[in-house]
Amino acid sequence: PKGGRVFSGIQPTGVPHLGNYLGALENWVSLQHQYPSVLYSIVDLHSITQPQDPAQLRSNILDMAASLLACGVDPERAVLFQQSKVSEHAELAWILGCLTSMPRLRHLPQWKMKSKLKSNEGSVGLFTYPVLQAADILLYKSTHVPVGEDQVQHLELAQDLARIFNNRYGDVFPEPRALLSSTRKVKSLRDPSAKMSKSDPQSMATIAVTDSPDDIALKIRRAVTDFTSEVTFDPETRPGVSNLVTIHAAMARTGVEEAVSQARGLDTGAYKRLVAEAVIHRLTPIREEIQRLRVERAHLEAVLARGNSRAQELAAPVLGEVRQRVGF
Ligand code: ADP
Ligand code: NA
Repeated sequence: PKGGRVFSGIQPTGVPHLGNYLGALENWVSLQHQYPSVLYSIVDLHSITQPQDPAQLRSNILDMAASLLACGVDPERAVLFQQSKVSEHAELAWILGCLTSMPRLRHLPQWKMKSKLKSNEGSVGLFTYPVLQAADILLYKSTHVPVGEDQVQHLELAQDLARIFNNRYGDVFPEPRALLSSTRKVKSLRDPSAKMSKSDPQSMATIAVTDSPDDIALKIRRAVTDFTSEVTFDPETRPGVSNLVTIHAAMARTGVEEAVSQARGLDTGAYKRLVAEAVIHRLTPIREEIQRLRVERAHLEAVLARGNSRAQELAAPVLGEVRQRVGF
């Protein structure tokens, strides 16, 4: 086992999709066994940077808890908690916000992408969201943060803020390091130039971890490929079929070369059936476990309540140290 503390968060916005599972959650599960201290947060404070229906949000938080448990997050190994229940996150975000310049935030991808959405005029919360992310990480003196490539710049802000705080007030925070996921981005099944994303309005473009075997088979059968029937892996020139190879390799826990060699002699149609089988095989137990857990609201609430108080026990002394350094 390695030393250090891992922190990561996921927004409670709907059921995770295959990209979330392969790009983040699968790794979360294995990190539980590699690091002595691991925290995973359902980051509901982040989710309200976009409009949310309150009843739906409350239900999504428990659904996300069910999804994480079903994917293999083990509350005995990881502190699984709800961000908003540990108010130290918001307080540290305020303090760090006072150390962050406006131009530093203006260039971050979160703001550049989402402030362009029609329904969102770009709230102050959306603008300072990466500061809250930095607070999430630093509040636990985390040393390692699993991130996708799209989040690297946000982690750099957390690193900068650790340094800026330490320079001004004395050493409190270790500089957190990125644990980059080795899995290639999973692409949209309808537009393989874009990543699979839950904000995609086309339901045929994403596979939710709760999709039925029939839905999975249908979505993969309809996946956009090209007119070459042979299966090869070339993400630049053949992004559609290469995405299927990526998914196949990851779901079958094998390499890309092995996946391509299994496709030898198959046309795209036959290969799609093979990929669908691999996805169905891995997602079926997860889907069944989510369905079982989803209705156990009291159990899910109890798991989170325990995680919330464990997180707070870790957060309180760090925030105490911060307050003292700042002069409160
Ligand atoms: P979404 O883009 O669907 O809203 P999030 O931004 O909430 O997903 O991402 C949650 C986690 O899942 C992040 O760690 C992110 O890097 C990862 N992730 C999201 N989409 C993909 C994808 N298509 N392929 C691989 N990883 C992904
Ligand atoms: Na996102």
